Amino acid sequence: MKDVNDEERIIGAESSEEDETIELSLRPQLLAQYIGQDKVKSEMKIYIKAAKKRDEALDHVLLYGPPGLGKTTLAFVIANEMGVHLKSTSGPAIEKAGDLVALLSELNPGDVLFIDEIHRLAKPVEEVLYSAMEDFYIDIVVGEGQTTHAVHVPLPPFTLIGATTSAGQLSAPLRDRFGIIEHMQYYSVDDLEKIIQRSSVVFNTKIDPEAAIELARRSRGTPRVANRLLKRVRDFAEVKGEEAISLATTKHSLHLLEVDDEGLDQTDRKLLRMMIENYGGGPVGIKTIAANNWLADPNNGQILTYPPKLNKYPQTKEIIVETYLLVKTLTKPLGSCPSSTSKNSWKDILEILATASNEVKARAETNIVIMHNPHD
Ligand code: ADE
Repeated sequence: MKDVNDEERIIGAESSEEDETIELSLRPQLLAQYIGQDKVKSEMKIYIKAAKKRDEALDHVLLYGPPGLGKTTLAFVIANEMGVHLKSTSGPAIEKAGDLVALLSELNPGDVLFIDEIHRLAKPVEEVLYSAMEDFYIDIVVGEGQTTHAVHVPLPPFTLIGATTSAGQLSAPLRDRFGIIEHMQYYSVDDLEKIIQRSSVVFNTKIDPEAAIELARRSRGTPRVANRLLKRVRDFAEVKGEEAISLATTKHSLHLLEVDDEGLDQTDRKLLRMMIENYGGGPVGIKTIAANNWLADPNNGQILTYPPKLNKYPQTKEIIVETYLLVKTLTKPLGSCPSSTSKNSWKDILEILATASNEVKARAETNIVIMHNPHD
C-alpha cells in the first residue's frame, strides 16, 4: 500500500503550508462575510455585542469540530469584530509554562490569545492557564534552591480562543473554563459553492456556476478542501486557455486527481473495502485496523496509512475515522451513535458506499464513524 498521510491527500483536511498561505489571502474580516455556520455566527454576534456594550473582554471561546472548517478564520473574525489584536499559537508550540507567561504578558486589555490544537497543551502549561483564564493572574516560581520564590503576576483581562478537533479530548477543568463553546459543522453544498465563488473572486478567476457546484459537492463539507480543489482545477483551466473554469474541465481534472463523484479518494475506498471484505462491514477496533496498517490519528480523526504506531496512543478508547460520504437516501445518522447501528445496517450502508461513487446519484454527506476499540 502506498503510504499517504493526510497532508498529501488532495482531499485531506489537514492544513499544509500552501493551505495556510491561501487561507490567509481568503480570510473574511467580518462575521457578515463569513459564510455558513449560521448557529455559531448568530450566537457569537450576540456575545460580541454584549461584551462590547459592557466594555469588557469577550468570554473565553472554545471552537471544536473537524479540521479545515475555518476555526482559525473565525477566531480572527471574532477578534476583528471585537476591535482587538489576536496573538496566534498552538498547543504543541507552547513547550514550557514560561512560554505561555511570555505570550500572556504581551497582551493588551481585551486582546485574544488563539491556541490551535489546544488539546495538545502540556499539562504544566495547561495548569498555568487555569488561573490566567479564571482570575487573570499567574503565579510563577522563580529562582533556584534557597532563592526560590513565587511571583504573582496580574494579567490584563483577555479572551482565550481555543480550537480543537474534539472537545472530548480536553480535560474537564480546562473545558469548564470556557464560557462559550461552539461546535463547527460540516458545510452544506450551497455554502461551499458560495465559498468557492468568493474564493475565485479573490483568486481573480472566473468559474461557471455548474463547475462551482460540482467542486462544492466533492469537497467533503470542508472549505479547506474546496479551496485546494479550486486552485488545482484553475491550473487545468488556465492551461486549456479557458476564460472561466468549465464543468467539463472540473470533472476532467478531478478525475486525474483521483477524486471521485462523491469526493472520495483511494484511501477512503480502501478503508471501506477493508471494513466490508475483512470485517463484515464493521464496527472494527483500532488495533485490528492497525494490524492492517490502517490507523487513524485520534488527534484529528484522519486516516494515516503508515505502519501501526499504537504505542503512541495507548490510552485510546475510541477512534474517530472520518469517512466522508454518505448517500442521501440512506442517511440515518451513522455517526453519533454507532452502537445503536446494527451490524447488518452497517454492512448494507458500507456495501452501497463502496460502489456508490459512480452509480448512485445522490448527494454525498460527511459522516463520522466512531469505532470502539474492543481491547480497551
Ligand atoms: N473561507 C474559508 N471558510 C470560509 C467561510 N466560512 N466563509 C468565507 N470564506 C471562507
